[in-house]
Amino acid sequence: MSSNIFDGILTQRTLFIQKETLRHTHTPERLPHRDAEVETLSFNLVEALKGHIPSNMILYGVTGAGKTAVTRYVCDQLLRKGEQIGRVVHPVLVNCRQIDTQYRVLSHLGNTLLEAHEEADIPFTGWPTDRVFSELVKRMDERGGVYVIVLDEIDHLVKKAGDDLLYNLTNLNAELKNARACVIGISNDLKFTDFLDPRVRSRLGQEDIIFNPYNAEQLQDILRGRAQNAITPDAIGDGVIELCAALAAQENGDARCALDLLRVSTEKAEQEGVSIVEQQHVRIAQAQIESDQVTPVIRTLPTQQKMVLVSVLINENNGLRNIQTGEVYHIYKQACNLVGQQFLTARRISGIINNLDMLGLITAKVISRGRHGRSKEINSCIPNNIDPIDVMAKAEPVFSEIFANRFRHQSRL
Ligand SMILES: Nc1ncnc2c1ncn2[C@@H]1O[C@H](COP(=O)(O)OP(=O)(O)OP(=O)(O)O)[C@@H](O)[C@H]1O
Ligand SMILES: [Mg+2]
Repeated sequence: MSSNIFDGILTQRTLFIQKETLRHTHTPERLPHRDAEVETLSFNLVEALKGHIPSNMILYGVTGAGKTAVTRYVCDQLLRKGEQIGRVVHPVLVNCRQIDTQYRVLSHLGNTLLEAHEEADIPFTGWPTDRVFSELVKRMDERGGVYVIVLDEIDHLVKKAGDDLLYNLTNLNAELKNARACVIGISNDLKFTDFLDPRVRSRLGQEDIIFNPYNAEQLQDILRGRAQNAITPDAIGDGVIELCAALAAQENGDARCALDLLRVSTEKAEQEGVSIVEQQHVRIAQAQIESDQVTPVIRTLPTQQKMVLVSVLINENNGLRNIQTGEVYHIYKQACNLVGQQFLTARRISGIINNLDMLGLITAKVISRGRHGRSKEINSCIPNNIDPIDVMAKAEPVFSEIFANRFRHQSRL
C-alpha cells in the first residue's frame, strides 16, 4: 500500500477528548465563582415565570469576566423551566456588535419571533423604523408571554447609533397589551451610561450587576473545570494550569484568554507528538496568540501609519531608543521622498504616533524637559516573535525597500 501524508497524523495520539468544549462558543454546565451573579440574575428573571415583569438590568464587567456565559446559562435555564411549568417566556439574545443599528435589532427581534406565524420577513432595510417597531409589538402581542430581551455588547451600538433603541425598548410595556418585556443590557464599558439620556439611564439601570475580574486562583478552578471533559486526564503537566491562569490574570483576569492558552498549548504539544503538555508549550502558545492578535493590526494600518511605524523602527535599528517626535519625522520625510509620496505635517505625524500608541505598537511617553518644554519618548513595543517589517512588506512590498535604506539621522549619529 502506498504511503499517504495523513497516515502519521491520523494515527497520532490526540490529547483532546472534546476540543469544542474549550471554545468560546461553548456554554459550560458549571460556572465556578459566578454563583452570586447567577443568583442575582435569576432572582430577577424568576418574575417572568410568574407572569410579572422583571426589572431592567445592566451587567458590567471587563472582557472575559463571564457576562455572556452567565446570561446564556440563566436564559437557557429560564426557557427550560418555562417549558416545564407551562409558562410562556422568551429570552432573546442579540449581539449588538454584530447587529449594530436600531433598525437591525428591531427587525432581528421581529424576525426571530416569526416561526409560529405566517407573516413575511421584515426586510433588512427600507421600512420606516416606527413601522418595524409596531410590527414587533404586534408579533409580541400575538404570541403573548414575557420577553427577556438581552442586548449583549450594547455599548457598541449606543456609541455608534445613540440610545433611541434603548428608549423604545424600555418603553415597550406601554405599547404591549398581551405580552410583557424587560431589557438586560451587557457592557464592558463601565462608563457607557454616560452616553445615555438620563431618562433611558434610569429606566434601564433599575438594577446593576458588576462582574469583577477573575483572579489567578479563580481562573485555575475555571480551567480545571473546563479541561475535565476537554483534555485527556494526565495529559496536563505540572504547573500548566497555574501558568495559563497566571498569564490570563495579568490580562485583566480574562477567562477567554486563559482558555485560549490552554487549548493552544495542548495543540502545540500534540503537534510535537508528545503526550504531556508542559509549561514550555504554554510559552509557545502565548507567543503565537500574541502574534495572531498583533499581526493583522500591523498589516491593516493605513500606508501613512505604516510609514511612521517604519520610521520608528529605522531609528531603533540605527541604535536609537527613546526617540523624539522630530527624529521620527526626519526619517519619515526621507522615507516619503524615497518612494515619491507626499508627506504630512509634523502635527499629523504626532496624531499618528498617538494612534500607534493606542494600538499598542509603540509607547509614546510624554516627558518634561524643564524650560525646553515637553516632548515624547517613543519606543516600539512589538512582540519579539513578530517581524513587523516582514508583515508590512507582505502587505505593501515598498516597505522592505524603505527599511533596507536605513537612513541615518545626522544629529544623533
Ligand atoms: N466561571 C466560568 N466558568 C467557566 N467558563 C467561564 C467562566 N467565566 C467565563 N468563562 C468562559 O470564558 C469565556 C469568556 O466569557 P464571556 O464570553 O462570558 O465573557 P464576557 O464577560 O461576556 O466578555 P466580553 O465583555 O468580552 O463579551 C467564555 O468561553 C466562557 O464560557
Ligand atoms: Mg460577552
